[in-house]
Amino acid sequence: MTRPSVLWWLAPVLVLGGCGSGGDDDRASRLKAAGPNPDLAAMLRVASADAGRGQFGRCAACHTIGKGGQALAGPNLHGIMGRAVAADARFGYTQALIDWGGRWDDARMDAWLAAPSRQVPGTRMAFGGIADPLTRADLIAYLKTAR
Ligand code: HEC
Repeated sequence: MTRPSVLWWLAPVLVLGGCGSGGDDDRASRLKAAGPNPDLAAMLRVASADAGRGQFGRCAACHTIGKGGQALAGPNLHGIMGRAVAADARFGYTQALIDWGGRWDDARMDAWLAAPSRQVPGTRMAFGGIADPLTRADLIAYLKTAR
């Protein structure tokens, strides 16, 4: 048992990836791998799209993510990373989000997911936000897979 570390790191992701953040042990080892005082780039290096898929359950009441998926309370999120903000012509966005403008890069998505209505006062996205930076990074990694 000289080199089991990678397998142990992966095991909880494989077992729990579909239903949550990947388990506490996995989280701890990923946070450790991110290094001290990790910034967004460091979080994204250890982010797990599988864990993000589980977290997307928090969004799924209002958002579909499959290609061409219908709008619910919020717009379809297929291909959202890299896209212009408020760009789905099928959806009626608030003027507040339209005026925010710009593109959905990592930093913007991270800030939005942390506190939507603090970033964009007047947005209709009724979602308090996600305080945990690793959970946000996991979600960003997952959103990137939907393109
Ligand atoms: C209660 C419903 C609701 C929930 C839950 C919700 N959203 Fe939203 N979301 C919306 C609405 C409504 C908008 C449109 C906001 C506006 O026009 O101001 C939106 C907009 C967005 C946008 C901008 C889309 C674009 O085309 O620019 C992103 C990105 C987004 N949501 C991501 C998420 C993610 C990721 C989650 C889960 C962590 C989530 N949302 C949870 C309702 C929701």
